[in-house]
Amino acid sequence: MLSTYDHEAFGSTGLRSSDIAFMARAGMVFLAQMDGETVGGCQLMRMVEEPTMMWGVGFYIRPQWRRQGLGSTFLAGVLELISTLSCSGLMLTVDAGNAAASGLYRSFGFRLLESMPEFYGRGEDRHLMRLDLRET
Ligand SMILES: CC(C)(COP(=O)(O)OP(=O)(O)OC[C@H]1O[C@@H](n2cnc3c(N)ncnc32)[C@H](O)[C@@H]1OP(=O)(O)O)[C@@H](O)C(=O)NCCC(=O)NCCS
Repeated sequence: MLSTYDHEAFGSTGLRSSDIAFMARAGMVFLAQMDGETVGGCQLMRMVEEPTMMWGVGFYIRPQWRRQGLGSTFLAGVLELISTLSCSGLMLTVDAGNAAASGLYRSFGFRLLESMPEFYGRGEDRHLMRLDLRET
């Protein structure tokens, strides 16, 4: 089910069930739920080169629940939880043309670190963004 939601949000780059299984075991998988229904998801892992930082693998709200403030509420909850885990911040990449996600992240204080041409392959340019929790 979670893999279906991931593909609904990200198309062919969505995570497979096996990806989500190892993320749940070795990283973290968060679910946004309303009335028992899963309306969003997020996967994080700790960065090897900067162990106090988390790396966002994915973050989504399912299409029918978007633009109702749930992405903001979910992200705030995720950040609050990781701040209790000796975590200093969160890095992630966002599609260069993804205005919705970029707007959401900027509104939380994420800053653009660099543009990464073809990070996910040909034509798949990404922006690397970073939030330092202790500065917010
Ligand atoms: C990005 C995403 C999680 C936002 O979730 P959401 O629940 O719609 O977000 P919210 O309703 O809480 O909106 C929060 C802010 O995000 C930005 N935003 C959200 N949707 C937007 C849109 N369609 N266009 C421009 N800005 C948008 C705005 O800054 C908004 O604040 P505002 O309502 O005060 O203008 C959602 O669009 C999504 O799941 N997209 C597909 C997956 C994806 O791209 N994930 C990001 C991977 S890096």
